Amino acid sequence: MNSIIITGGAGFIGSHLIHRMVKKYPDTKIINLDALTYAGNLENLKDIENESNYSFVKVDICDFDAVMAAFRKYKPDGIIHLAAESHVDRSITNPMAFVNTNVIGTVNLLNAARELWKDNMEGKKFHHVSTDEVFGSLGDTGFFKESTAYDPRSPYSASKASSDHFVSAYHHTYKIPVVMTNCSNNYGPYQFPEKLIPLMINNILLKKELPIYGKGLNIRDWLYVEDHAAAIDLVFHKGELGESYNIGGKNEWKNIDLVHLLCRQMDEKLGREKGESESLITYVKDRAGHDMRYAIDSQKIEKELGWFPSLNFEEGLSKTIDWYLNNKDWLKRVTSGEYAKYYQDMYKNREV
Ligand code: NAD
Ligand code: DAU
Repeated sequence: MNSIIITGGAGFIGSHLIHRMVKKYPDTKIINLDALTYAGNLENLKDIENESNYSFVKVDICDFDAVMAAFRKYKPDGIIHLAAESHVDRSITNPMAFVNTNVIGTVNLLNAARELWKDNMEGKKFHHVSTDEVFGSLGDTGFFKESTAYDPRSPYSASKASSDHFVSAYHHTYKIPVVMTNCSNNYGPYQFPEKLIPLMINNILLKKELPIYGKGLNIRDWLYVEDHAAAIDLVFHKGELGESYNIGGKNEWKNIDLVHLLCRQMDEKLGREKGESESLITYVKDRAGHDMRYAIDSQKIEKELGWFPSLNFEEGLSKTIDWYLNNKDWLKRVTSGEYAKYYQDMYKNREV
């Protein structure tokens, strides 16, 4: 492809994908289209910002005219769409932001692609990056497959489910060449510390309470972010049009067990006494409508495209902690100002 627009490239997963694509495809122009919300940070891309095949354009995907102007300027053959409001807790306090960006923003992108590619769809591709949360919540057994019925239960997952349906509908109705991926929980460098792992790392560093929602028994399936970026690259290039692929880490952890492991690894790395960080664990009021368990069956992408996760969790977590310890300035910068207010508002009524 000559040119690929990646939306949300200044965010957590998007910045890893941009790093990968800029280096791996030097003859392809990679355009990062991002509105730079609180979650977007160009500092994540400092080391590649001067590469000749990389450009950044500040566009809000809710603004159709701005999206269309960028599409006309860069004439992408491919679009990989990651831009989203991505934090479940924020969706509970402010659902409309999720409807606007995740639903309307996605439809704007589909309309712009349809307009740009109207005379020739050959060789074009729109890759929609989605989440396993669209499938709802599992009990003790079972896995989400691509054929699992959608059952979103938070405003975030409802907005992502809606965007997935629009992507499929545009494929069926207008023949837009689409592929879709639904991934489990990611972790790794550059994740904004509103999400479980970096929030806990930051609090452990600061010797602050570690807020565990409910009883800490909810289960998530964790995948190292670079494995997700590799899967997106593979599906974007080799995935069958109209198909969706589930991506997961085969790595289920109860939140409380994960936080214990994190505390142990960090105490060791920080030269603290055994058990010091675990003593910061505090049970707080549960998230409203908290999904119990997510687990992915990723046989389709494994069998059809040969993708497998590359890192085991202890290794990935250790690498992640090392990154945050070596990038305390990054952490300080993203947690200064707005973050302090967010943290206070989000956690103030959670004491139990
Ligand atoms: P993130 O919150 O870290 O980054 C989102 C990015 O989108 C930011 O750079 C932000 O500036 C940009 N953005 C937000 N609203 C925008 C708008 N209106 N216009 C243009 N840009 C906008 O998110 P993430 O964790 O990197 O997730 C990326 C994608 O992957 C999302 O679609 C998310 O639903 C999906 N996903 C995330 C996970 C995960 O564990 N983080 C797992 C599966 C799927
Ligand atoms: O499954 C994929 C999804 O994973 C992505 O689509 C979302 O964008 C991403 O944010 C993530 O959603 P979760 O809600 O699972 O992630 P989060 O890191 O917010 O929470 C993980 C678990 O930890 C969840 O059960 C809630 C719990 N938790 C979270 C925070 C922030 C706590 O117990 N305490 C906390 O302070």
